[in-house]
Amino acid sequence: MERPSPMSIIDYHNRTKHDYGKMARSAGYLDWANQPVPFRFYEGTRQVKLPLLGSDPAVSLTALLNGEIPPPSPFHLETVAGMLELSLGLSAWKSAPGAGKWALRINPSSGNLHPTEAYLLLPSTASLNAGLYHYDPFHHCLEGRAYFDDGLFQELASHFGGAGFLVALTSIFWRESWKYGERAYRYCMLDIGHGLAALAMAAGLFGWQMTYLPGVSDRELGRLLGFDRLDWPPNEAEEPQLLGWVSLDGASTSTDSIAPGWLERISRQEFLGRPNRLSGQHVSWKAIESAAMASAKKNAIELEPRWPAKLEQRLNPLPDGPAAKIIRRRRSAGEYDASKSIGREVFLSLMNGVMAHGGAPPFNLGLGPQHTGLIVFVHRVLDMQPGLYCLNLDSDNQGRLQAALTPGFEWAPVSDGLPLYRLLEGDFSQQAMELGCRQPIAGDSAFSLAMVSLFAPLVVHEPFMYRLLHWHCGMIGHMFYLGAEAWGLRATGIGCFFDDPVHRFLGLNDDLFQSLYHLTVGHGIEDRRLQTLAPYHHLER
Ligand SMILES: Cc1cc2nc3c(=O)[nH]c(=O)nc-3n(C[C@H](O)[C@H](O)[C@H](O)COP(=O)(O)O)c2cc1C
Repeated sequence: MERPSPMSIIDYHNRTKHDYGKMARSAGYLDWANQPVPFRFYEGTRQVKLPLLGSDPAVSLTALLNGEIPPPSPFHLETVAGMLELSLGLSAWKSAPGAGKWALRINPSSGNLHPTEAYLLLPSTASLNAGLYHYDPFHHCLEGRAYFDDGLFQELASHFGGAGFLVALTSIFWRESWKYGERAYRYCMLDIGHGLAALAMAAGLFGWQMTYLPGVSDRELGRLLGFDRLDWPPNEAEEPQLLGWVSLDGASTSTDSIAPGWLERISRQEFLGRPNRLSGQHVSWKAIESAAMASAKKNAIELEPRWPAKLEQRLNPLPDGPAAKIIRRRRSAGEYDASKSIGREVFLSLMNGVMAHGGAPPFNLGLGPQHTGLIVFVHRVLDMQPGLYCLNLDSDNQGRLQAALTPGFEWAPVSDGLPLYRLLEGDFSQQAMELGCRQPIAGDSAFSLAMVSLFAPLVVHEPFMYRLLHWHCGMIGHMFYLGAEAWGLRATGIGCFFDDPVHRFLGLNDDLFQSLYHLTVGHGIEDRRLQTLAPYHHLER
């Protein structure tokens, strides 16, 4: 097989920038005959059907965001099933005359293509053998890929200082590159961030806590999942992304990796199942293979500090309501009603909702500081001047960000207790739309924003940071989605934006900071042509 040519992750980033008149390389058309199957199945495995929740956990979103985690639920099949249903499960089906029907999920995904797959390493329960399982959201079931002695999990529990289980996320790049070509690697990483936030929130609903394990390399994770023994269909391999520990006592772990020797013993087990084929034919995007190689996590990473800066108190809380209801309702808007505004308190609460707070999910995952500031284009917020604003999520970078952006910005504080500043007054709805690949949602929303992350100093030193920065941005985006939903509004992530025009607009002249993800929030307009079906109507149980 032809090997991709070596490329630094910064080269990848630069060559996949969109610009006016020059989009990143892609097929340029949609090859419908080879559209990848959105679900992975392991043929030849035993399925463990997961029960659907009879009633949702009653925890409110505001309580979760304040770190008021409920008492831990007991660990059994129903509760693990509940965590999956409320994080990576199906949320609905949509259908349109002549266009068939397609599934939506609790987590959003660029183009609804869902490159993220999930695996669980679970101790035994009354109805489950200890083992490695793949989560299949279509059937809402676990596919048993390897079975272990429960003693292995007792070892793991003593290593982590309490009972728990492991969750791994992987990406199938082909699912995204089928549509988006070379830029797809970025979208896969943003999707991982959304998935992570969804998992951390759902763990919190059951009184559990998920912690990222930075000490596990990609190769080790691949072995843990039995990937080194699999024959993947060409171009459809899953790439290991991350491993997390879900502690059942609701406490975070300060342990960075799995128990020594554990991996060796797991990888000696027999791994079962053959991955389904997703497409008949593929286009092989060498730039993506190069990006994955360039940003591989070869060794353990140390993330300092483990916990990001905390907000002492959440001012301007989101409206109270059951978190699970909001999580299930989350949808992207295809269109916004530009005749409607949102209130100032709504806007401030949404900004508040993406600040890390105490031990509250999802920012209690232990991914380190976000290294990100939000440049917000305020279009329609009552009692706020339309204009450009900045919410800095990383106080350590305030000086650098301020120095990097256009010198003439005002930096006028907006509200006590939030690092939110007005930079410039004016109507920027047209610019926001232009910069967001001319998508009307960027200008018709109440506000849109660009996530601007500290870039070269982090990524040159450790190329894996490229992935981590995108995960952070995906997580921030996810919390805007939930916050918007809590107010009866809608959010939509924007992966398509003109990179360097955004940088030039903000005065960013080098790669000290780069814009990695955009987002919009506003009054969504429902597409009445679509019919909505229940998420699991297709399963007869
Ligand atoms: C990383 C990412 C990038 C996205 N980019 C865009 C975009 O540029 N334009 C858009 O209209 N929607 C975008 N979306 C929204 C997706 O199209 C949407 O999540 C998907 O269709 C699934 O619908 P749902 O969010 O309602 O479940 C993006 C979503 C994600 C997670």
